[in-house]
Amino acid sequence: MDVVVVGSCNTDLSSYVSRLPLRGETLTGTRFETGFGGKGANQCVAAAKLGAKTALVGKLGEDVFGVQYLSNLLSNNINCEHVQSLKTASTGVASIFVGNDGSNCIVIVPGANNLLSVDDVNQAEALISSSKLVVCQNEIPQETTLAALKLAKKCGVKTIFNPAPADKDLDLELFSLPDFFCANETEASLLLNQEVSDVESAKKACHQLIESKGCNTVIITLGEKGVVYQTRINLEVEHIPATPVTAIDTTGAGDSFIGSLAYYMTNMEQLPLSKMIDRAGQIAAISVQKPGTQKSFPLASELPLGLLSS
Ligand code: RIB
Ligand code: NA
Repeated sequence: MDVVVVGSCNTDLSSYVSRLPLRGETLTGTRFETGFGGKGANQCVAAAKLGAKTALVGKLGEDVFGVQYLSNLLSNNINCEHVQSLKTASTGVASIFVGNDGSNCIVIVPGANNLLSVDDVNQAEALISSSKLVVCQNEIPQETTLAALKLAKKCGVKTIFNPAPADKDLDLELFSLPDFFCANETEASLLLNQEVSDVESAKKACHQLIESKGCNTVIITLGEKGVVYQTRINLEVEHIPATPVTAIDTTGAGDSFIGSLAYYMTNMEQLPLSKMIDRAGQIAAISVQKPGTQKSFPLASELPLGLLSS
């Protein structure tokens, strides 16, 4: 196994509107679509579509959404031995509004995701210990994520943690345990309680996440402003610019980035981190030019050749 994701599955209910609604406002949208989402599954699918051998540890409800979701995972060649369907909970749902400029706002009801437990992680020990990389997000209980990161560490397996959605009360261990701490500007702002909005403030944030929060390698994504990253052993903070594109739907762009990074880390280990980040950014830029989440993530066969060459 290359990549094991311990994380969420949501059915995305996306409404497309000319602009995002204001408080108390009723808007008429232009289009509605259901899609497969949830940050955990999105990242897993992004890596799988590029050709990584992936598995998901997750929970669904035994409802229509859950049944469809499981077949979606299987059709993406994801190992689902540790995906359970529960009678007692609903499949996670995300109500999403997407504005004309590609921006979005999302309300999540976690349902079954909230029942993914430490015990479920322990039952996946054989899977986790045989993998190259474990990837976690913040859409399942924190204690479960902590257990997954600890188990991976015990087994000598590298880890990426994506603190999304942002939570200002993140357990301190979630900063120091993962090898790669990968956040966007909103998450970094909330976690540090200061504005992170451009390359300069992101560089400062990288430094602080390492020095005062105990992170190892920090990667901060800034959308069209690119990515800034710093490793614990290198004082230099690097900025990797993004290729400008016209965004149609940015939902899941961060997941496309992390899933692609996971692919490069496990299938093209010899690439320098700067190249992996640059390429993952280019793949995320492809995804924002198509509507939807997982279905906008490119297959390996759809990528420009340069992104797959060593
Ligand atoms: O990151 C995008 C995802 O966030 C959506 O797919 C939605 O399900 C929410 O989890
Ligand atoms: Na998209």
